[in-house]
Amino acid sequence: MPTPRTMSALVAQGTGEPSDVLRLETRPVPAPGPGQALIRVKATPIHASDLHVLRGRYGFSPDFPAVGGNMECVGRIEALGPDTGGLRIGERVVVAAVPAVPGPALAGTWQEYLVADRHRILPVPDSLSDSSACQLAVNPLTALLLVTRELDVRQGEWLLQTAAGSTVGRLVIQLARHLGVRTINVVRRRGAVEEIEALGGDEVICTEDEDLVRRVADIAGPSGVRKAVDCVAGPVGAQVSKALAPGGEVVVYGALSTHRQTDPAALTIPLQARSVIYETKTVRGFWLNRWFGTTEPADALHALSEVRDLVTGEALTIPQGRPFPLDRFPEAITLTESPAHGGKPLFVFEDGQAGTDG
Ligand SMILES: NC(=O)c1ccc[n+]([C@@H]2O[C@H](COP(=O)([O-])OP(=O)(O)OC[C@H]3O[C@@H](n4cnc5c(N)ncnc54)[C@H](OP(=O)(O)O)[C@@H]3O)[C@@H](O)[C@H]2O)c1
Repeated sequence: MPTPRTMSALVAQGTGEPSDVLRLETRPVPAPGPGQALIRVKATPIHASDLHVLRGRYGFSPDFPAVGGNMECVGRIEALGPDTGGLRIGERVVVAAVPAVPGPALAGTWQEYLVADRHRILPVPDSLSDSSACQLAVNPLTALLLVTRELDVRQGEWLLQTAAGSTVGRLVIQLARHLGVRTINVVRRRGAVEEIEALGGDEVICTEDEDLVRRVADIAGPSGVRKAVDCVAGPVGAQVSKALAPGGEVVVYGALSTHRQTDPAALTIPLQARSVIYETKTVRGFWLNRWFGTTEPADALHALSEVRDLVTGEALTIPQGRPFPLDRFPEAITLTESPAHGGKPLFVFEDGQAGTDG
């Protein structure tokens, strides 16, 4: 079979609104170097964070022009560079393309082929759908790390979380049930409550018509809640901190309430100094990129294989994504940030060969 030489890639020319700066381009298929594999991409998600990278509002910035999609994909190994023992051509794999911070830049995933470092490649069984496999390395890994490493929530303990209907939120609920942890789940829409209960959320608070702090006190009683994860920030994040028992800890891993703001001064969590000082509460952050940058590659792959086993063992179900071909990117991107958008938009590539120059 002749080596494919050109492929489609969705490339950002610089920072700006994604629909303005992204262009579909034809690029040469890259060649794998030492310790690298060439992956034929089958499916790759559009995460909100991918769009923030393009807007220049994320924790790292690539050199432009840059292929979009900085997180993850599933595909098959097409070619191997030297020093890639243990991997095989044809193998179906997940690539954790999240750039480590601090660390080197990695290839974007919104393209038909990419080269990936062997430390970021995990074989996955064919029983795992493309939709689940291409979403394995970011949200499920984040859920696992938040619950079991960052907070070490124990059986019978309460865990309070915001945006419970998000992909991460749904995975946190399932993982909590698996571990015997009880969850208090905050959502912004009444329409989401039943769904979260059906998924196994023990308690649901809807900020549309309920007071978060009062409801947490009613649910948890005098001993209160000591552990929380928040991806909304802003006033909701502050309410979460306020709702915690003295000595409690909230890990902030997202800022959904601030996503469309461009004024850095507005990207805040207005905490009460009294509660932080006199009740010695902790608010700290988690960022997967920094976790990859500070974790030994073998340990990171081990954590990723833990997630794969939870998903293939059906303890965790990743919500089904919604497929789009690469050329329908404006529609897919709009959907990513629409309220109540349902399945996460995924770029999918048909099986087949990339074009050739001659
Ligand atoms: N720090 C890290 O390393 C890390 C890793 C993974 C994910 N994250 C972050 O985790 C968050 C969730 O990601 P995801 O992929 O799971 O999201 P997702 O599946 O796209 O879901 C987004 C959810 O957030 C809710 N939401 C959006 N804006 C909101 C607001 N202003 N207030 C309250 N809820 C709001 C939506 O509610 P509706 O259903 O009502 O629309 C929806 O349930 C994102 O901020 C992401 O960047 C961070």
